[in-house]
Amino acid sequence: MTPTVLILNGPNLNLLGSREPEVYGYETLDDIAAACARHGERLNLVVDFRQSNHEGELVDWIHEARQNAAGIILNAGAYSHTSIAIFDALLACDMPIIELHLSNLFRREEFRHKSYVSRAAKGVICGFGAAGYRLALEAMAELVGAAGPEKEA
Ligand code: DQA
Repeated sequence: MTPTVLILNGPNLNLLGSREPEVYGYETLDDIAAACARHGERLNLVVDFRQSNHEGELVDWIHEARQNAAGIILNAGAYSHTSIAIFDALLACDMPIIELHLSNLFRREEFRHKSYVSRAAKGVICGFGAAGYRLALEAMAELVGAAGPEKEA
């Protein structure tokens, strides 16, 4: 069966493309979702791509992943730096978790240098803009053993 990867996006990421484009780039979240669907297909992964501005909804989706996902790629936005609730939900998931950020947190304000998500994650990808989503999917394919021969683009 093709493994499902849940890609979760937290607050304000719905504004990508128009929100501080010099930091986050000009691609919209819809552009990124479409690219993830295409890339997932090549890697033999089903991509379930979601965004919410609400901490509790993200927690609910992480719980749901325990039943139906093989791994989680999470850009929790600002909740990365504040949310013990999301951290606890991730700890309850027995599957690979990849933390993702568009920007390089370590070139930015001090308060972005600490992430609760990192403590629950297998690895972190940050600073590569929208391309980070593709890199995270490739890492996830290896982690969940989806690999197989890559399909033609
Ligand atoms: C972000 C970085 C966070 O610090 C910030 O609050 C975001 C986006 C990123 O993708 O670079 O909303 O997660």
